Amino acid sequence: MKVTPVVKLPDRKLNLYAKLEFSNPNGSTKDRSAFWILQQAIERGDVTEDTTIVESSSGNFAIAMAAFSHALGLAFIPVIDRNCNAPTEDYLRAMCTRVEKITEPDESGGYLGGRLARVRQIRDELPRAYWPNQYENGDSVAAYYRLTGDELCRALDRIDYVFVGVSTGGTIAGLSLRVKEAFPFATVVAVDSEGSAIFGGPAQQRRIPGLGSSIVPQLCSRAQNDDVVIVPERDAVAGCHELHQRYGLYAGGSTGSVYAAIRRYFGAHPVGETRPTVVFLCADRGTAYADTIYNAAWVDEYLPIDDGQVSCGVPAATG
Ligand SMILES: Cc1ncc(COP(=O)(O)O)c(C=O)c1O
Repeated sequence: MKVTPVVKLPDRKLNLYAKLEFSNPNGSTKDRSAFWILQQAIERGDVTEDTTIVESSSGNFAIAMAAFSHALGLAFIPVIDRNCNAPTEDYLRAMCTRVEKITEPDESGGYLGGRLARVRQIRDELPRAYWPNQYENGDSVAAYYRLTGDELCRALDRIDYVFVGVSTGGTIAGLSLRVKEAFPFATVVAVDSEGSAIFGGPAQQRRIPGLGSSIVPQLCSRAQNDDVVIVPERDAVAGCHELHQRYGLYAGGSTGSVYAAIRRYFGAHPVGETRPTVVFLCADRGTAYADTIYNAAWVDEYLPIDDGQVSCGVPAATG
């Protein structure tokens, strides 16, 4: 796959870099895992021309898998949920003959349990089905290790910190392994959404797709993270707006969360004059979030400010 750009963002205290994963052909970081998982499955013979692929996704993995499957003439059934962005759902319905959408939350308040149950049901009903299972598939870790992680390590002379958003755990597992191999002193900071169960918090309803999970995905156990920052969804929105205003980066919710986490982390861990090299991924573009994160009415309706809520906010930029 083509290498995505790594750009330097001006900052007074940090050598701050963003790797623009939204420059991938289908617009997100998930192109890497979908491509690698599919290629390996074809090489192993798990996917042949009469296979139907079925997978659960919050949106981006499904977009990537839909595009690659379509190019190869393979059938793909994405299982999405109510939080899926409307433009993403429209695209999937145009690309796939069948799209399954879960509309009822499970007991955790999330949709992942329902999505996975539906995937298993469809897989068992079909004569030749392949479930990539991006929550447990080691090829996802390999994709982020060999592709994204390797590119990042080649692009920079040093990495002191890498901040990575977590959902299936594939990205942080692959990136952390590769970055620590090249730069053993690097600190890996996992970023998750408030209301996600991955790092032990109580699972609650979340509105922004991409980050977080109502289960602890198996791949997370392979991540070599040193620290965790949990970001309320309202702060992810603030992070998106600040990235856009300061740097012209129109990014999706997980990127806003990661950026908010960077500001919060270095607010609590001042770096003095050391100028550490800090890296994050711009996982997808803001376009699919125009009616949600970038729509003040949606934000006020779905992410109201709770007076009792402790919010990390996005402190003023250091640059
Ligand atoms: C926009 C975005 N950011 C971050 C992630 C998290 O990546 P991972 O599932 O590899 O943990 C996803 C996963 O779908 C995503 O779509």
